[in-house]
Amino acid sequence: FPLQSLNTFGIAASARAYLRVTEKEQLLGVYVDGAWATLPKLVLGGGSNVLLTGDFDGLVLHIALQGREVLEDTQQHYLVRAAAGENWHAFVQWTLAQGVGGLENLSLIPGTVGAAPIQNIGAYGLEIKDVFHRATVFDPCSGETRVMEAAACRFGYRDSVFKREEGRHLIILDVTFALPKQWQPNLRYAELAAEPSLTGTPTPQQVADAVIAIRRRKLPDPAVIGNAGSFFKNPVVSGAQCAALLERFPALVHHAQPDGSEKLAAGWLIDQCGWKGRSLGAAGVYPKQALVLVNNGGASGAEVVALAKAIQADVQARYGVLLEPEPVFI
Ligand code: EPU
Repeated sequence: FPLQSLNTFGIAASARAYLRVTEKEQLLGVYVDGAWATLPKLVLGGGSNVLLTGDFDGLVLHIALQGREVLEDTQQHYLVRAAAGENWHAFVQWTLAQGVGGLENLSLIPGTVGAAPIQNIGAYGLEIKDVFHRATVFDPCSGETRVMEAAACRFGYRDSVFKREEGRHLIILDVTFALPKQWQPNLRYAELAAEPSLTGTPTPQQVADAVIAIRRRKLPDPAVIGNAGSFFKNPVVSGAQCAALLERFPALVHHAQPDGSEKLAAGWLIDQCGWKGRSLGAAGVYPKQALVLVNNGGASGAEVVALAKAIQADVQARYGVLLEPEPVFI
């Protein structure tokens, strides 16, 4: 089964078998007592955070569960639930149309609702963990469905239990968000605060529109040019290592973390190494944002891996910092 249209990198690869999951009952059949129970499984949502490095000799489960609703509200929050297969950006826009703000800073992020907690998606001063209430998950080991609260998800920067050994097998069925009734714009991210359209008292939709404008200016649309967003995480180094780097590179972009460590801008490091706009085979570095690797047409997963390795080696040699990929390699 061809997977090219199921991953935003647009990598051509195939799977032994494919199932579009539109009812959660299908999962029981696939994992517990169906003919497919013993095949390796790959769960895909929007395919916007994976790099296919070859064919997959197993069953791809394409999570297409649909549905969204505003649930009973608490005094301070609206509880808004969406099924895992809902498109993330369409869901954010729908919450705004319901008059519920709080997700607007995460506008235009590719992918699905169910994938959002896995890497704790974040942008412009907001992460999923800040608005996450609970998720319903299917556990193939027990064949049971259960609810997970935020603490059990162990969210970190682009990380959660769903990416680690203990939670990798869990399948997210739906996610509930707690969104504030007393909405305040979140303009902590300097680039967002500097948008001319946000002076005065902006509405949630105006903030969303500003985020969309910024993203369109510097990030490639996966429908036009294959990519998986930021290809590397921003590396976190100790305060001492950052100070030593600053002596040699005074322009180093860094942000102090609450625990005293420093987050460096991977895009800046890659840019300084001269990689912006360069290509290796059909894989390239996006000319407007060095943190994004792109498929210039017909790239294989191996070509993207080769480019990523060359970038890692250069950044390591110059700055002594190892860049960690953000997408999951399959
Ligand atoms: N920079 C350069 N050259 C570049 C790219 C960036 O010098 O080619 C510098 C910028 O000038 C800026 C700094 O690096 O000073 C940071 O750049 P930017 O504000 O564009 O954000 P980022 O750190 O590159 C992160 C997230 C994005 C998110 C934005 C906005 C990660 C890995 N990436 O990018 O998330 O949209 O901040 O919040 O944390 C994603 O995860 O897929 C993603 C797009």
